[in-house]
Amino acid sequence: MTELKSGFPKNFLWGGATAANQVEGAYDLDGKGLSTADMVKFVPKSERGNDFSLDVTKKEIDAILAGEVDARFPKRDGIDFYHHYKEDIALFAEMGFKTFRLSLNWARIFPNGDDTTPNEKGLAFYDSVFDELLKYGIEPLVTLSHYETPLNLTLKYNGWADRRVIGFFTHYAETVFKRYQNKVKYWLTFNEINVISLSPYTGGGVLVENAENPLQLSYQAAHHQFLASALATKLCHEIIPNSQVGCMLARMATYPATNNPDDVLKAQHENQMNLFFTDVHARGTYPTFMNRFFAENNIVIKKETGDDEILKEHTVDFISFSYYMSLSATVKPEGDRTAGNFMGGVKNEYLETSDWGWQIDPKGLRFTLNDLYTRYNLPLFIVENGLGAYDTVEDDGSIHDDYRIDYLRKHIEQMKEAIKDGVDLMGYTSWGPIDLISASTSEMSKRYGFIYVDQDDEGNGTLKRSKKDSFNWYKKVIASNGEDLA
Ligand code: BG6
Repeated sequence: MTELKSGFPKNFLWGGATAANQVEGAYDLDGKGLSTADMVKFVPKSERGNDFSLDVTKKEIDAILAGEVDARFPKRDGIDFYHHYKEDIALFAEMGFKTFRLSLNWARIFPNGDDTTPNEKGLAFYDSVFDELLKYGIEPLVTLSHYETPLNLTLKYNGWADRRVIGFFTHYAETVFKRYQNKVKYWLTFNEINVISLSPYTGGGVLVENAENPLQLSYQAAHHQFLASALATKLCHEIIPNSQVGCMLARMATYPATNNPDDVLKAQHENQMNLFFTDVHARGTYPTFMNRFFAENNIVIKKETGDDEILKEHTVDFISFSYYMSLSATVKPEGDRTAGNFMGGVKNEYLETSDWGWQIDPKGLRFTLNDLYTRYNLPLFIVENGLGAYDTVEDDGSIHDDYRIDYLRKHIEQMKEAIKDGVDLMGYTSWGPIDLISASTSEMSKRYGFIYVDQDDEGNGTLKRSKKDSFNWYKKVIASNGEDLA
């Protein structure tokens, strides 16, 4: 009889994930250049209407640079990880992290993006962070680009819309692969690469407001990122022979809202539009279903000779993805809508929602793992998952976040089921193990952490770190390799 895999593999990589622009702060220290994330201002919830967009326009950037905008820019300050990393990493080590996912801030290393020589102080900062992690036996998992592009590349080239940016990126990638070759083995190229199609400014520093066909720009930029990702994968394999490179998708598993075949087709279409990004990375070719989408939206991807070969020859070693929720699709325009991570959907009556209206669907994670593994037959890595919630600090300083424990427990249970189903899962890094600035709303009060950070939405607070109840819970989960979830 075939034996069922039960439990997590021995070397399972448990940990947490962050992004430079949401934690580091120090946005103008030690030679760092401005990045697109530094231009994102805080808009209080009461002022965020239905048309609230993450995309910053050229006009807004000009006004910000001219000092005409009186606002807070929380991603410039983060949680000051730049000066607290030793303390924060010590807490990760106390929880027993096997890995820590972080991103490099490109503009800290190449302040203008198109510089020929790197900023030594920027490189030295990450050396210190990696040394600190390795001191505790924590494996760094590094994202090259997580929602920040050096601002100069946006202003001068319109970000990833311009093919020349591929060369600047590969120069950056080569620089960091060489520099950290003895410290970092696991790499990711672009965080949630599909976001370039949903928020081109966030995903690729692309300004689309004056474009005749914004989709043309977004998908052309995606093509450039695919090439850059493939070339970085090639370089990484050459420079660090034992390295593993993954792509990263915001997986938005979409169910048909009913069994009406039209809803089923709509859901299939949504899933194809999402999985297109992993298809290119894993299979090395554009899937044929995109031809119709491109034709119907007047999109013509400009390719150069050799592009197809680059994509084909340098596919990824593993697939990583974020999973927060599932979505539902219907052709009927009516019905309650739900919020989501860059994309909402229609309400699923079987699911509860978070404080921010995101649908909580642990079984959707099992579905997603099976689905991705069947499609690609490559190892999978969940590099983001978690619950953004309001936390209350009690008078004695304790924080009882049982709702977070509940969310994580249910998702980890489903990971176990997926492993039994036969899925090859390398690791799990929950999002925001320490509270950080929200990517979508720049709020501090949307907290994901096991570690609380004393800072409010207005930037007031001591930045003191303290442990929530989930801290000891996750420590136990890791120590038992996922067996003790109580
Ligand atoms: C993912 C991003 O989309 O979701 C993270 O990769 C982000 O950067 C996370 O923080 C959670 O989203 P939010 O908007 O709650 O911060």
